[in-house]
Amino acid sequence: MSIVYNESAKSFKLTAKDTSYVIGIFDDDQFVCHLYYGDKLPDEDVNYLYGPVYQMRPSVLNRERARVMDWVPFEYPTQGIGDYREHCLEVETLDGHHTCDLHYVSHKIYAGKPALPDMPATFDNGDVCTTLELVCEDRTLQLEITLIYTTFETLDVITRTVRVKNNADRPIYLKRVLSASLDFDHQNLETLTLHGGWARECNPTRLPVVPGKLVTGNARGETSAQDSPLLALMDPGTDDDHGEVFAMNFVYSGNFYGCAEGHQFGGTRAVMGINPQNFTWKLIPGDSFTAPEVVMVHSNEGLGKMTRTFHDLYRNHLIRGKYKDRKRPILINNWEATYFDFNTEKLLDIAREAAKNGIEMLVMDDGWFGTRNNDDRGLGDWWVNEEKLPGGLKYLVDEVNKLGLKFGIWIEPEMVNANSDLFRAHPDWAIQTPGRPLSEFREQLVLDWSRKEVRDYVYDMIHKVLSSANIEYVKWDMNRTMTELGSAGLPADQQQELCHRYVLGVYDIMNRLTTDFPNILLENCSSGGSRFDAGMLYYSPQIWTSDDSDAIERLGIQYGTSLCYPLSTMGAHISAVPNHQTGRITPFETRGYVALSGTFGYELDVTKIPEEDRAMIPKQVAMYHKYNDLVREGDLYRMGSVYTHPEYDSWMVVAKDKSEALVTYIQVRAKPGFVGSVRKLKLKGLDPQTMYRDEETGVVASGTAWMSGGYWIENMSGDYVGKLIHLIKA
Ligand code: DGJ
Repeated sequence: MSIVYNESAKSFKLTAKDTSYVIGIFDDDQFVCHLYYGDKLPDEDVNYLYGPVYQMRPSVLNRERARVMDWVPFEYPTQGIGDYREHCLEVETLDGHHTCDLHYVSHKIYAGKPALPDMPATFDNGDVCTTLELVCEDRTLQLEITLIYTTFETLDVITRTVRVKNNADRPIYLKRVLSASLDFDHQNLETLTLHGGWARECNPTRLPVVPGKLVTGNARGETSAQDSPLLALMDPGTDDDHGEVFAMNFVYSGNFYGCAEGHQFGGTRAVMGINPQNFTWKLIPGDSFTAPEVVMVHSNEGLGKMTRTFHDLYRNHLIRGKYKDRKRPILINNWEATYFDFNTEKLLDIAREAAKNGIEMLVMDDGWFGTRNNDDRGLGDWWVNEEKLPGGLKYLVDEVNKLGLKFGIWIEPEMVNANSDLFRAHPDWAIQTPGRPLSEFREQLVLDWSRKEVRDYVYDMIHKVLSSANIEYVKWDMNRTMTELGSAGLPADQQQELCHRYVLGVYDIMNRLTTDFPNILLENCSSGGSRFDAGMLYYSPQIWTSDDSDAIERLGIQYGTSLCYPLSTMGAHISAVPNHQTGRITPFETRGYVALSGTFGYELDVTKIPEEDRAMIPKQVAMYHKYNDLVREGDLYRMGSVYTHPEYDSWMVVAKDKSEALVTYIQVRAKPGFVGSVRKLKLKGLDPQTMYRDEETGVVASGTAWMSGGYWIENMSGDYVGKLIHLIKA
């Protein structure tokens, strides 16, 4: 068992691959405290970890206990007992009181990992998990709080969640239920978080921990492009290969909160969970509330190992369905090709040309339904616009299939335009605060998916569409955040449940859709990557990474996204130039290299691009088929990023068995002369003893030579050019 309880020390030692995590129960008061997180401890007995912490335990100081609570390393800190640092649990009783505290009662250790009710979570996949449930209680409130930890034997991963049960005979309001807390005894740490905006997702931000609080999170109703749910604490100066990292990633798709707080005693506390803003949950007697899962990854080899651990975890223990381990069909999407201006003939023209060049699927994007000729109308009216698509969906899909292509479709089921039959029939179905104007955003409103009848109605329409033809892919979009919160389906004292109930509603429909249509490849999207999170990956093996399809901008966006999420999950397309978002002109070849490190597809009018570009498509298709298994399944190593090397970007994927590697090198800015333009790239991740042949030059050298001596990158002329290097075991 990788979780062991030491009765005499009253401690729990959790072991995940090369990581240990130790929890201690402080006797008398039975407080649950954090004792250690880091490299694996081989010791049987870890009693020594209590040290001076134990001498200062609250029960010893008795009436002076308020004096010490503020530095006790609580595993799950609560509000109102003298610990003024960030806390995880806050309640409000019917009398208006907020204090709660938590004492150990019992525990359970078992093999496997429990699923979370109605929520995504990582899962065991072959006896590698052990779970600890620490049952605690607040005796005064009769609240049972179960802290749940799961270790992965083969990965440096521990997951956490908490279940709160009301054993009293009166309701109680949960004001804050975060999922995890970590206490460090020092502040010599940096935080890493991801921020951005529309078409600028996932920029890494590093800041030193200082006294005070560093906060990440959002209350927009979805994960957001502005803030992504990663909070890592790491040694100052940590790079891709060095430094200790403690990363928390949230398996959730709504409002989140993360905070790293440097406190008065020189330590740091980091917490993560559902954002308490716009959150209160009424817990009626006998009911439980379960918080979403936080995944904690420990790495003592920098951000590179953190990334590879997240990738392995998500590929093997989160993503599900038919396409989990499969190559995805190469698609061509018509959005940047036509926007709303298309019809059956236009789509078939694109499909014909695509089929000739080896593309495997046509995806019809926004604009095929209701009166949707513009973004100010039609959302909610999920029936086919026969003016655009005479003969309906069936005719179009059959024709596309006859060309040998699969067919995919775009939907945005969570939304409604005011100008739609759905809204005219059910104006109260949109999220709104009575008496206030409904603010539009992209001229649309958010449907209240906390209400089952609303979800059922929309799903019924979508179900009909998906059953009406041979549809093999769905792009599920979501294009606005929430304002003027309010649900006609909730009583006054539960209005603050709306955001979380909404997310549960989205999960409910994604669950129904993937169950009813198990062969459909689902791709999530939210104005690009505004809902790129581990929660969504539980339902869809890929997510559209960004609405910015410019290859050079994508270097940064894909770098930031890939810190946590596998390359196989990142939607990436080759689009036309001048690029629609930036106006930049990049070579077709380079656009292909960048898209290759994602799902790979096209988003352009293939009937209109220059002949020399079109001629390159069959080669790119062959390149995808040659390398996709490696890209999807291999280990990612980064040699340079535009964030640190504005002149170039480079990364490589190494096969799990170390038999081959694919290096991508993009020269962002050319430099004159020999010195400026020749670079020796030190490769990573190869087996030092194995001899590798460079497929292009035939040069054979050992893994050590390629990694320590490096690979000479030859001078390339011009900006935005790139190359692939394929090394194969000789
Ligand atoms: C936003 C998406 O990110 C785009 O790819 C496209 O599908 C549009 N919505 C369509 O409205």
